[in-house]
Amino acid sequence: MVLIAPSILSADFARLREEIVALEQAGADMIHIDVMDGHFVPNLTFGPQIVKTVRESTQLPLDVHLMVDNPDKMLEWFAQAGADILTIHAEVCPHLDKTIQNIHNLGMKAGVSLNPATSEKTLEYVLDKLDQILVMSVNPGFGGQSFIQEQLAKISALKEMRKGRHYQIEVDGGINALTAAECVSAGADILVAGTAVFAGGDYKSNIKALK
Ligand code: DX5
Ligand code: ZN
Repeated sequence: MVLIAPSILSADFARLREEIVALEQAGADMIHIDVMDGHFVPNLTFGPQIVKTVRESTQLPLDVHLMVDNPDKMLEWFAQAGADILTIHAEVCPHLDKTIQNIHNLGMKAGVSLNPATSEKTLEYVLDKLDQILVMSVNPGFGGQSFIQEQLAKISALKEMRKGRHYQIEVDGGINALTAAECVSAGADILVAGTAVFAGGDYKSNIKALK
């Protein structure tokens, strides 16, 4: 069964704790937290303090997606804030192998994300070390965008490349009941969804519809 990681980018921030509790009760498998720096992506969201608040609100794994130019400087902040999985972008990590090791040394699982135009081949020599690969199916920065169909081929390629390795394939952006089915057929293990989980307020039915 595919896992659902609701993105709190679409939550009501004035009621963040209640939102997290509601997501947990609705059957979320993990909580996806989008950290944006206004440089790597044209939007600015939250930092480690919010991750800490989410940590205090749930037992679910925290899946922290760093959309920042300088992730190497920030790894420790998010480890201390309680992140379980820390995902960085391949596009901003010249020493990707080392960054992955640093994430592991801080006690977190390591994920690497690929923008829509970035090839899966860039990960060839670090595949053994990865816990998660996050395929961006929109250009990162905002919720509510349309799914980029070409990314289905990337999901399939990553499934092919997995062989005996343990990494999970996660997809982020434009996920709804239709694109969720396409992603799962292509090989996705985890789906991130903001708009589709929060729409209308019935989180339980929305998560069920995606599964
Ligand atoms: C986009 C973020 C996503 C976003 C997904 O840059 O990484 O996690 O919240 O939102 P939807 O599901 O609305 O496309
Ligand atoms: Zn994300």
